Amino acid sequence: MTDATPAISIKNLTKVFRTPTVRKHFVTAVTNLSLEVASGQIYGLIGPNGSGKSTTMKVLLGLLKPTSGSAAIFGRDSSRVDSRNDVGFLPENPYFYKHLTGAETLAFYGKLCGLQGAVLRERIAEMLALVDLEHARDRRLGGYSKGMLQRIGLAQALIHHPRLVVLDEPTGRLR
Ligand SMILES: Nc1ncnc2c1ncn2[C@@H]1O[C@H](COP(=O)(O)OP(=O)(O)OP(=O)(O)O)[C@@H](O)[C@H]1O
Ligand SMILES: [Mg+2]
Repeated sequence: MTDATPAISIKNLTKVFRTPTVRKHFVTAVTNLSLEVASGQIYGLIGPNGSGKSTTMKVLLGLLKPTSGSAAIFGRDSSRVDSRNDVGFLPENPYFYKHLTGAETLAFYGKLCGLQGAVLRERIAEMLALVDLEHARDRRLGGYSKGMLQRIGLAQALIHHPRLVVLDEPTGRLR
């Protein structure tokens, strides 16, 4: 793989949802979308509500299967589990375990990404400082405010130094 391999490559992506409970029976969320994001680039996907931004990201992350077309991360098709090795993701509506503290949450995600020991501990401290949550590191997430949860979400997306970061509505709830 060369440096010229795009970080993101989406080709002719179409996603249609079957919605048996509504009259039309299907919703086309994305129609024939093609885009490339080079390594090192910051790319903003902007569009009105319901225009398919989150759907596109979920296909890229392998959470949804495309109806047609394809998506790839650093040249690996999104259907492959190893395409996600180097990705950090902040979903639109992240779900976290309420009984874990901020530090425990980051430890959980860090371990999932293969970090451990002193490296993990250092990285947790760095991330808590980055999102300004050092004061709340030992408080349970059940008691976090919406903005604090968004901050922990950003920290978990970055914990393992991913080559690619995909953030859905990263500034939502932040002040
Ligand atoms: N699981 C699903 N089942 C049925 N329809 C869906 C599903 N997910 C998304 N859709 C539909 O696909 C379209 C695109 O939704 P999507 O969430 O991708 O939009 P978005 O651009 O992220 O919007 P927003 O700015 O509100 O976050 C919408 O019409 C939505 O209702
Ligand atoms: Mg969305």
